[in-house]
Amino acid sequence: MRFLTSLAVVVAALSAAMYFLENHLEKFYIFSPSELHALSQEAISLHGNDTSSAVSHIVTQLSKSHPNHVNLAEEWVFNNAGGAMGAMYIIHASITEYLIIFGTAVGTEGHTGRHTADDYFYILKGEELAYAPGKGSYEPERYPQGSVHHLRRGEVKQYRMRDTCFALEYARGWIPPMLFFGYADTFSSTLDFPTLWRTTVITVQEMLTNLAKMKL
Ligand SMILES: *[C@@H]1O[C@H](CO)[C@@H](O)[C@H](O)[C@H]1NC(C)=O
Repeated sequence: MRFLTSLAVVVAALSAAMYFLENHLEKFYIFSPSELHALSQEAISLHGNDTSSAVSHIVTQLSKSHPNHVNLAEEWVFNNAGGAMGAMYIIHASITEYLIIFGTAVGTEGHTGRHTADDYFYILKGEELAYAPGKGSYEPERYPQGSVHHLRRGEVKQYRMRDTCFALEYARGWIPPMLFFGYADTFSSTLDFPTLWRTTVITVQEMLTNLAKMKL
C-alpha cells in the first residue's frame, strides 16, 4: 500500500513536470526556423551546388551565433529510418532540439515517422517530394533547393529524395522519443551495430554536454 502511494505521488509529480515543460518548451529553444532558412539560402547563394562549402558556411556561422552549442567535429554516420536510408552529420542535439545535415548521393524514399517534434527540412541540394494521402490528393508536394518542408508535430507523410539530395534538418519539441524511430530499422533490418554505436555516442555526448551548459 505504501509502495502504491509512493508510486502514485511519483507519477503525479512527473506528469505535472511534463505538463509544465510541455507548456514552456519555447523557452528552451536556441535556434529559430527563420534564422535557419535565411542561413540555408545564404549558403546556397554563396556556394551554389558546392554543398561541402555550403555546409561549412552554415556550421561556421552557427558556431558564431550559438557558441558552445555547435558540434564542429564533422562526423558522418548512416541513418536508416522508416525504410529510407541516408547519412547525417549531427550539428546539435539536446532534449528539445536537434540540428543535422541529412542526405544521400543516390536518392531514397520512405516514411517520415510520426514525431513528438516539429521538423523543418531546408533543402541545400536537389529536390524532395512528399505525399500526404487524402481526398483529392494526387500530386506530390515539391520542395526544391532553397525551400523548406515543415512537417508538423504528429503529421506523417511519405517522402522521396530524388537522386543527390542534402538538407539541413531542424527538429524542435521532445527529441528523446524520436530516437526510437531513428533506431528501429537497425534492429529489424540493417543490424549495423557499429553505426548504431557511433550514433549513440555522438547523440549522448551532445545531449549531456548541452545539459551541463543548462541547455535542455
Ligand atoms: C544546382 O544544380 C541544379 C541541377 O543541375 C540546377 O538546376 C540548379 O540551378 C543549381 N543550383 C545552383 C544554386 O546553382
